[in-house]
Amino acid sequence: MHVFIVYAHPSEDSFTRHVRDEFLKGLKIGNHSYEISELYKMNFKTDMSEAEYLREANYDEKLPLSEDVINEQEKINRSDVIVFIYPVFWTEAPAKLVGWFDRVWTYGFAYGNRKMKRLKKAIVLCIAGHTLEHLKEYGHYDSMKTVMLGDRIFDRAENKEIIILDGTTKFNPELRQSNWNKHLRVAFETGKNL
Ligand SMILES: Cc1cc2nc3c(=O)[nH]c(=O)nc-3n(C[C@H](O)[C@H](O)[C@H](O)COP(=O)(O)O)c2cc1C
Repeated sequence: MHVFIVYAHPSEDSFTRHVRDEFLKGLKIGNHSYEISELYKMNFKTDMSEAEYLREANYDEKLPLSEDVINEQEKINRSDVIVFIYPVFWTEAPAKLVGWFDRVWTYGFAYGNRKMKRLKKAIVLCIAGHTLEHLKEYGHYDSMKTVMLGDRIFDRAENKEIIILDGTTKFNPELRQSNWNKHLRVAFETGKNL
């Protein structure tokens, strides 16, 4: 399968980048092809311009899209699977990825008279500082799942899944260390077994 990865972490000195690398290793072993948008490295623009806002707010698909947005939409439409890899920031994706959705999920592409292809699969690989138990107890897990799968992916993929790689906070180095290899195996297997 051809996979499009949307990756959003501001630093290479992170657990998230190991998750990305293991996932890519898994893809190679599984004989999948891929392309990746590294949103921070690309310096992807995440603020909507006023013109972009007015295009969306007035549902006017005749108005032009920016080249960087078209590039991302083309990557989606030549893929079978989309994968998001990012750390949780305040129960959401980093603003870089939130802004990617604001700009790339445009009228006439992701909604309205959609040009976006229906993907076979959407996978969210989300790295969390808290344990899954904590995220569930306070409703954060439900919120993350609802926003990413319930709204942003919705019916834009035949299958969708959110995988939380939890308990990775630097605040608790033993917990982070104890989860490290287990989570990297999950990332590898997820890439391999798409
Ligand atoms: C600004 C900021 C906000 C964060 N918010 C949350 C949060 O709401 N929930 C959570 O579980 N972890 C949160 N974290 C922890 C991150 O998910 C953390 O980056 C994660 O442990 C992954 O480690 P890494 O940055 O080494 O890849 C936050 C981290 C930062 C820097």
